[in-house]
Amino acid sequence: MCGIVAYIGKREAYPILINGLRRLEYRGYDSAGVALLNGTLNVYKKAGKVADLENYISGKSKKGSLGIGHTRWATHGPPNDVNAHPHSSDEERLTLVHNGIIENYDTIKKELSARGHQFVSDTDTEVLVHLIDDIQQHTKAPLEEAVRLALTQVTGAYAIVVISQDEPEKIVCARKSSPLVVGIGKEEYIIASDATPIIEHTKKVVYLDDEEVAVICRNEGLRIKDLDNEHKTPYVQELEWQLERLEKGGYDHFMLKEINEQARSIQDSFRGRISIENNTVTLGGMQDFVEKFEQAQRIIIVACGTSWHAGLVGEYLLEDLARIPVEVEYASEFRYRNPVIFENDIVIAISQSGETADTLAAIKLAKEKGAMIYGICNVVGSSISRETHTGSYTHAGPEIGVASTKAFTAQLTVLSLLALAMAKQRNTLSEEKYAQLLKDLNRMPELISEVLKCEKQVIEISKKYQNAENFLYLGRGYNFPVALEGALKLKEISYIHAEGYPAAEMKHGPIALIDENMPVVVVGTNKSAYEKIISNVQEVKARKGQIIAITNEGDDELDNIADHVIKVPNCSEQFSPMVATIPLQLLAYHIALLRGCNVDQPRNLAKSVTVE
Ligand code: G6P
Repeated sequence: MCGIVAYIGKREAYPILINGLRRLEYRGYDSAGVALLNGTLNVYKKAGKVADLENYISGKSKKGSLGIGHTRWATHGPPNDVNAHPHSSDEERLTLVHNGIIENYDTIKKELSARGHQFVSDTDTEVLVHLIDDIQQHTKAPLEEAVRLALTQVTGAYAIVVISQDEPEKIVCARKSSPLVVGIGKEEYIIASDATPIIEHTKKVVYLDDEEVAVICRNEGLRIKDLDNEHKTPYVQELEWQLERLEKGGYDHFMLKEINEQARSIQDSFRGRISIENNTVTLGGMQDFVEKFEQAQRIIIVACGTSWHAGLVGEYLLEDLARIPVEVEYASEFRYRNPVIFENDIVIAISQSGETADTLAAIKLAKEKGAMIYGICNVVGSSISRETHTGSYTHAGPEIGVASTKAFTAQLTVLSLLALAMAKQRNTLSEEKYAQLLKDLNRMPELISEVLKCEKQVIEISKKYQNAENFLYLGRGYNFPVALEGALKLKEISYIHAEGYPAAEMKHGPIALIDENMPVVVVGTNKSAYEKIISNVQEVKARKGQIIAITNEGDDELDNIADHVIKVPNCSEQFSPMVATIPLQLLAYHIALLRGCNVDQPRNLAKSVTVE
C-alpha cells in the first residue's frame, strides 16, 4: 500500500527520497511524487512507477535539503498525476503526503469549499492539507499545532508528513492506525512508513504511537506531543535488520531470493527457542502468561491472506499436538460478526507486516471482550506487535516480494513451536513423540535445502502448463491449507485462476471442471492419508485431468499414475506443510515469469494492506 519517505538534514534530499521510494516499491503502488523545499516549494508527481517520476523530474530543479515523497495505492480516485501525492493547499503554501483514509473527508470538504478552498483532486487527502491551512489562516498557530488541531477533527486512519513554505526549517508528521517511523541520523532525520528506506542511513528509530504528532526542526531535533497536547518522550530503538537483507543478493527477483532463503529463515525462527539436549521449547512470549495458557479452553486464530493459511495449519497443529480446540477466522469476518469470546480464550493474531488493518481491528475487538492476544508477526515494532499482550516474532527478515513465501514458513515454524510448548504444558504427548517431533523440527532447514533442488524439474513443468487458464490444488489434513496457499501464490503473481480444495471435497463440485485442460496439483505428503490421496488422484485421471503430484521420497505408487511427480524429503506429517509448500512457491514463480508477469509487484496487490 502507500509509502512515505521524508528527509530533513544537511544533504540533498532528492536522491534520498528517490532511493527511499524505490525501497518502498514492494508495498504496491500506482503513482509517485516528491516535494522539495529550497526557498520555494517544488512538487512533482506522476502516475506510474518511481522510474516514470524520475524521468519526469529530470532536467528540473531537484535542490533542497528538506523534502517529502510518496507512493500511492489508489483508494479515492483513479491513479493519475493529479491524485498522486503530495497534495498542496492553495498557492502551494503547505504540502503533505498521507497513508490511510480520512473517513469524514466529504463533510470537511463541503465546509472548506464553502469557505473558498479550491480542490483539484478526487482524494480524501487533499481535504487534510486544506484543513491545516484553514486553521493556520485563522489561528496563526505554528504548523505542528495546526496539524494537531486538524487531526482532532478527522476520523479514519492516517500517517502524514507535512511541510510549509512559511516554516522551512521543520517537518511535522503524525500517525493513527497507519505506521510511521522516524530514523535519527547524524544531524539528519529520515521519516518513513516502514524502516526499509531508513536502514541504510541509521539504525536508530522512533516508532510513533497512534495519535502522536512529531515535529522535527533542523536545530532543535525531535519533539512529540499527543492529540491532547501532552508532551511524550521519544523511545529510541535499534533496528535489527541488515541492509543486505533488503537487496536482491544476486537473484532476479526478491521472491526467488526469499524462496531460497527459507532454510535460513526457518532456522532464525527457532534459533534459541529449541534445545535438543534438554528436550525443550522456550517461547519468551509464553513465559509471562503461563497461567493463561494453562487455563486456556480454546484458541481463536485471526489473520488475512497467506497468514490465514498459516493459521489453518496452526489449527491442525494445536488440536493434534496440544489437544485444544481451535477456530481460524478471517480477521475481516471476525470483527464484524459479534463473535463470542470467553475469558479463557486465547486469540492468536498472525501477520507478516504487523500492519494489516483488519487484523489490527480484530485484535482491538477481542481485547475489548477480554481475551488475551498473542501476536505472531515478522516486523519488529509493528502496530500489531505493539497492540498484542504478548507474542513471538517470526524473525524471517524483511520480506519484500508481495507474494509471501518465507514469512509463511516462518509462521508455520512458530506455530509448531507453540503447539509443542503447549503440548508439553498440557501433557498431551509422550516424551518419545515430543522428542522425535523436536528433532524433526530441528532438521527442517536441512530438508528445505534439499527440496529446493527440485527447481529444475519445476521449471520444466511450468513450461508445459504456463498457458493453462485454470489450476486446481488438492490436499488433505495438514496439507489442505498448503493447497490453498499454492493456489493463492499462483493467482497472485501469474493471474491464472486457481482454486485450492480439500481433496475429498473435489467430488462435490470441482470435479465437474476436470478435463484434459485442467492441471491438478495434488499435495500428497500425508502419511496418514496417502491411500486416500491415491484414490483422489485416480478420480482426476479417470476424467483426463493432468496431475502434478508432490509426494515423499520412497512413496512410489503415484509414479505411474501422475503426469509429474515431485519428490520431497520425508518428515513428520505435522511439518510436511513447510516442505510441500516450497515446490508450489517455485511453480507459481516460474509460471509467472514465463508469462512475463511482474513477479515482485503483481498488479493491484499490496504488501501491507492498511485499509479495511
Ligand atoms: C496482503 C499481502 C499478502 C498477505 C496479506 C496479509 O494481501 O499481499 O501476502 O498474506 O496481506 O498480510 P499480513 O502482513 O497481515 O500477513
